[in-house]
Amino acid sequence: MNFNIAADRRNTNSIKWSRKAIENISANADAEPFWVADMDFLPEPHIQEAGRVIAGLGVYGYPSYPTDNSAVSSWLRQKHGWIVSDEDIIFCQGLLHGLALAINLFTKEGDSILVPSPMYRPFRTIPELNNRKLIEHDLDYNDGVFSLDIERFRADAEHADLILFCSPQNPTGIVFTREELESVLMIAKERNIPILSDEIHSDLSHPEAKHLPMGLVNERIGAKCATFFAPSKTFNIAGEHSAFAVFSDKDMEKEFRHKEEALWLSEPGLMIGELASSAYLKGYEYNRELCRYLGETIKAMRETAEKLCPEVKIVNGSASFVVFIDFSAFYGKIETEVLSHPERYKGGKDGGVLSRFFGVAAGVAVNDGTWFGDTWKCFVRFNYGTSRDRVIKALERMLKAIRSL
Ligand SMILES: Cc1ncc(COP(=O)(O)O)c(C=O)c1O
Repeated sequence: MNFNIAADRRNTNSIKWSRKAIENISANADAEPFWVADMDFLPEPHIQEAGRVIAGLGVYGYPSYPTDNSAVSSWLRQKHGWIVSDEDIIFCQGLLHGLALAINLFTKEGDSILVPSPMYRPFRTIPELNNRKLIEHDLDYNDGVFSLDIERFRADAEHADLILFCSPQNPTGIVFTREELESVLMIAKERNIPILSDEIHSDLSHPEAKHLPMGLVNERIGAKCATFFAPSKTFNIAGEHSAFAVFSDKDMEKEFRHKEEALWLSEPGLMIGELASSAYLKGYEYNRELCRYLGETIKAMRETAEKLCPEVKIVNGSASFVVFIDFSAFYGKIETEVLSHPERYKGGKDGGVLSRFFGVAAGVAVNDGTWFGDTWKCFVRFNYGTSRDRVIKALERMLKAIRSL
């Protein structure tokens, strides 16, 4: 695979490349998109071929679903050293479906859900739409480095009925250490509350980092834990919603399976079975190359920022293709510029000061930090899952735009 060549996704029914959606967040329909969390790379060739074969059938009736999860379990073993039997893996129609169902099952209205912040927005929306309270736990942040303060987390867990965790973390890209994961699991165990771990970005840790599945770490701890993961981000097939769950607790697993069946939510669509098994069985080398490429891209981003504008901090993410960038040193100036020219920076409801500024002044569409919690207005989330050349040019335009204020 040559990751230096990104696909041209304009006019391909991609939300990331939709001009209307771009204008909404960035106040400029022509801005180049570095926001929604999917990549511009073509998937691994076997996956592309599997997709072509299905599309070529011309008849799109019910598929015969794969009857076992052997491709999934072999991936978990090869990629993460986690031995899970096929029968313990549960299909979900998308990761958020799995989380929303589990939240509904394992908490009741009025219960409190503890979530580390900055948080992927549905981690706020799903609890709120289901009448649960949110306990927002701000991660520690200092000079480009996010970390988890376990004692503060323990204090915030005091009144929680469930922990909703994201590992590696979206939007920061940070990978948690074994010690941090063990501590979080211990807190869940001491309080006898469930912990749900969203690990959709888990297969994309860069070579210097090592992701540990929560379910694997929990084998020595025994908290009530459910680990959710998916082939979608890993292989850039997110448009085919699908994910998997593994429960450490048999009672929780039974309840979850029953609810999925009762709501008739357990059948995959036409393409995903073939795409996922091609990916999991044949995608290992592609994935290794991709992780290396992404690791080198973020290194090049850090070097660019250091050279052109060292006050801008690309935080300590070492997984996936999204990262938080800290513009605190320039926020005041940027806000003055945006507020003094309301017409120039007029966008839709999902933009903020920074995302509109970069949309208009640099032609770069990023997610505003406020999308991930009110505390984070000085940050943007930048998606670098595209060719390095495109990424560095966009970053240079952003840095130039703030320099010219
Ligand atoms: C942390 C996280 N969870 C879940 C999702 C969405 O998963 P799905 O489309 O399978 O529901 C995303 C997509 O960006 C994500 O970043």
